[in-house]
Amino acid sequence: MAAIALYLAMAAMALLINGAASDGTTRYTNHTVGDSAGWVFNSNTNKTSADFTAWAAKQTFNLGDFLIFNTITNETVIQTYNKTTYDSCITDDALDSDTFQYDGGSNEFGQTLTIPVPLTIEGAQYYFSDADDGEQCQHGMAFEIKVGHGLGLPLSLSQPPPPPYAPPPVPSDEGQSPPISVVTNPSNNGGMRAGVGICWLFLLLLVILSFLQA
Ligand SMILES: *[C@@H]1O[C@H](CO)[C@@H](O)[C@H](O)[C@H]1NC(C)=O
Ligand SMILES: *[C@@H]1O[C@H](CO)[C@@H](O)[C@H](O)[C@H]1NC(C)=O
Ligand SMILES: *[C@@H]1O[C@H](CO)[C@@H](O)[C@H](O)[C@H]1NC(C)=O
Ligand SMILES: *[C@@H]1O[C@H](CO)[C@@H](O)[C@H](O)[C@H]1NC(C)=O
Repeated sequence: MAAIALYLAMAAMALLINGAASDGTTRYTNHTVGDSAGWVFNSNTNKTSADFTAWAAKQTFNLGDFLIFNTITNETVIQTYNKTTYDSCITDDALDSDTFQYDGGSNEFGQTLTIPVPLTIEGAQYYFSDADDGEQCQHGMAFEIKVGHGLGLPLSLSQPPPPPYAPPPVPSDEGQSPPISVVTNPSNNGGMRAGVGICWLFLLLLVILSFLQA
């Protein structure tokens, strides 16, 4: 009975740990870049629609969040994990492996569009517009963010999907199995073992369920 209670407590703890991130994040957030001003550059005045560095400093970014760029086709959205590329403001030498362009596929200037960019990698990443040969970026169409773990990547954004859940290894050496051997009553060995097996199944089920929720 004690072993069953212990395993139930462990299962409940596993659920809790999976359900809420350590930093208190409880949901995914969509961050509208520049808030209502959007991601726009005025090429007549060289002014950006917002101070994007200041905007980014006020946000907390986590895996699974989106950046929403409300923009026009005069601008581009370049995402890079490479600071050298970011600092250069252009993509001429950028590597396909660390730099990505998001656009609406339109060749006409002045068209409005919304570009959602999912945050799928933890750590530092950089955004800029490389339009006008980097001039937009040099005039402030650029910002850096740090992406934290939060709730972790939702299944919908996992590309490729994570490996299937592997149950924890079962100790083959009787002498080393932890709480089980401590509470085992020799006269009741078979029943105890069956109970523990069912508990593992239950724990496995809970863990799978909590992953599906994430
Ligand atoms: C966030 O943006 C994505 C991409 O546009 C969308 O699929 C999702 O529903 C949005 N989530 C919220 C909470 O608005
Ligand atoms: C967008 O580009 C076109 C063509 O260069 C220009 O006429 C227009 O003023 C630009 N729009 C803004 C907001 O800078
Ligand atoms: C905008 O900046 C470019 C250099 O990036 C400069 O040549 C141009 O004169 C500037 N225009 C205005 C209106 O400040
Ligand atoms: C970053 O990009 C530059 C080109 O902009 C490239 O030369 C360099 O190798 C890249 N750095 C890393 C660490 O991949």
